Amino acid sequence: MSPSHEPKPINSPLGFVSLIGAGPGSPDLLTLRGLRALEQAQVVLFDALLEPSFAELFPKDAEAIPVGKRCGGLGTSQERIFELLLEHANAGKRVARLKGGDPLLFGRGGEEAQILEAAGIAFELIPGVSALQGAASASGIPLTHRGVSREVRILEGHHLLESDTDWHELASSRATLAIFMGTRTLRYIAKRMLDHGAPPDLPVAVIENATCADQATTISVLRLAAEGHLCSRTDGPGLVYIGAAIGERVHPTLPQFLDVNPNDALASLPQFAKQARAAGGGRNRRAG
Ligand SMILES: C[S@@+](CC[C@H](N)C(=O)[O-])C[C@H]1O[C@@H](n2cnc3c(N)ncnc32)[C@H](O)[C@@H]1O
Repeated sequence: MSPSHEPKPINSPLGFVSLIGAGPGSPDLLTLRGLRALEQAQVVLFDALLEPSFAELFPKDAEAIPVGKRCGGLGTSQERIFELLLEHANAGKRVARLKGGDPLLFGRGGEEAQILEAAGIAFELIPGVSALQGAASASGIPLTHRGVSREVRILEGHHLLESDTDWHELASSRATLAIFMGTRTLRYIAKRMLDHGAPPDLPVAVIENATCADQATTISVLRLAAEGHLCSRTDGPGLVYIGAAIGERVHPTLPQFLDVNPNDALASLPQFAKQARAAGGGRNRRAG
């Protein structure tokens, strides 16, 4: 196969930075373009949360520096990451900045790119598979489903409760809601949605450590989430999905496909999907 994108040559005394999306978790979901850029790196600044086996992909003689933090906890500050990027690029190095998921989705990759641009340092952005799609596909959840949901809303759990969220609009939405950093606040988000008229049997999924060997997939309904039954089962990152399309999930051949309160959730999911269709989820269907 002839690569369409060879790693960029360095034509300047300043170095070159590749902002690379590492994908949602498992290293084999890094793109080929990302891998080629990584293989050229003299310095690798990698998210500390990435699977340890990513290190096997780093060049043997590259300086590998873990950076980043988890859920606002201790770690390298973003300012320090900016400094490290500039320091190594200004020293003429080829730097790979490896970031979880896609660099530009809740990843502060946009700010890192702005800092590099302002400093006159050449860089490239290499897309990654976001946890948005990774967690959904790896757990058999369609983000959109013909006749059920044609919209995906990407939200952030930390600030959803504090900002001026239009809860009525959210509760009546037919979109699949994808809530990043939302496992801790799920209970309160679910409660607000119920208070604003969302159906109690609306499906909810929590996917943790998506695409990794220890992926944990929990499916339930909004009422049980609001009652606090849907908690994280691992220490890893988790993504929350809320919406009727979850009821259309296929059962993948994965372990740990758990329904909270199986009788309740299993009974209501297929019924909910049928109701969503009957209520007009397919009203505006288009061909294709
Ligand atoms: C700072 S954001 C980074 C998102 C990343 N840029 C992306 O495109 O996926 C971190 C959040 O992404 C979600 N996330 C990242 N990796 C995940 C994974 N493997 N499984 C589940 N959720 C994940 C979690 O909500 C986590 O708190």
